Amino acid sequence: MSPALASAAPVASRRVADASPYERLSAAERYLHLTRDRAFLALLGRRGFARLAGLRILELGCGEGSLLRSLLYYGADAVRLEGVDIDAGKVSRAQGSLAGLRLAVGSIAALPYRDGAFDLALAFTVFTSVLNGRARERGAAEALRVLRPGGLLVVYDFWINPLNQDVRPLRAGELRALFAPRPVEVERVTLAPPIVRALGGRPGLCAPLERLPWLRTHLLAAVPKEG
Ligand SMILES: C[S@@+](CC[C@H](N)C(=O)[O-])C[C@H]1O[C@@H](n2cnc3c(N)ncnc32)[C@H](O)[C@@H]1O
Repeated sequence: MSPALASAAPVASRRVADASPYERLSAAERYLHLTRDRAFLALLGRRGFARLAGLRILELGCGEGSLLRSLLYYGADAVRLEGVDIDAGKVSRAQGSLAGLRLAVGSIAALPYRDGAFDLALAFTVFTSVLNGRARERGAAEALRVLRPGGLLVVYDFWINPLNQDVRPLRAGELRALFAPRPVEVERVTLAPPIVRALGGRPGLCAPLERLPWLRTHLLAAVPKEG
């Protein structure tokens, strides 16, 4: 990774300074993933989950396993890392490259796990794929149900996306309402991907723009389950 990206934002973990989970990606996609990861790991550190080793972690809507691979890279244990997705084809492809992980086909609205099974639940760009408001509410309730008391749900999703008609953005107000009355910590992250791509992911150009909150398209939220 270039020194410019390394200094673009606070580094939560030394491992995030190494771009290897994303070395096959374009510079723009790498920039987007690394800046997301940096904000995510910083949030985990603030919330007392800095060490992924030993944690039981579930990814909701894991798709083909991109985030799961990153979590392994950042120190999660394969035996305690699980994923679930509604799309059986994606789960099958994810399983092909993540042989040791337990992956399941299922909906976030009816999770196939017992109450309190996980320390950490992650919902990265999955709520925006669920268009129906009631289904979002069920997914939010399910995410909290499978967390142990004192566990943490992290949501990363976009609040604006005018280019994709197949998804529905998740606004901060709706996000807070989904989990009310719990306190939800929400921050804006991720420089608008079309801008990052237009700039070729060059850190020296992207990082100054990323400091402007109104150019950030995603929300990163922490939802603690009461202990
Ligand atoms: C944009 S992808 C995100 C994949 C992954 N979380 C990531 O960040 O790379 C959205 C995923 O949510 C899954 N999905 C959509 N609705 C779902 C539901 N009701 N339950 C579980 N997964 C769902 C889709 O199949 C897809 O894999």
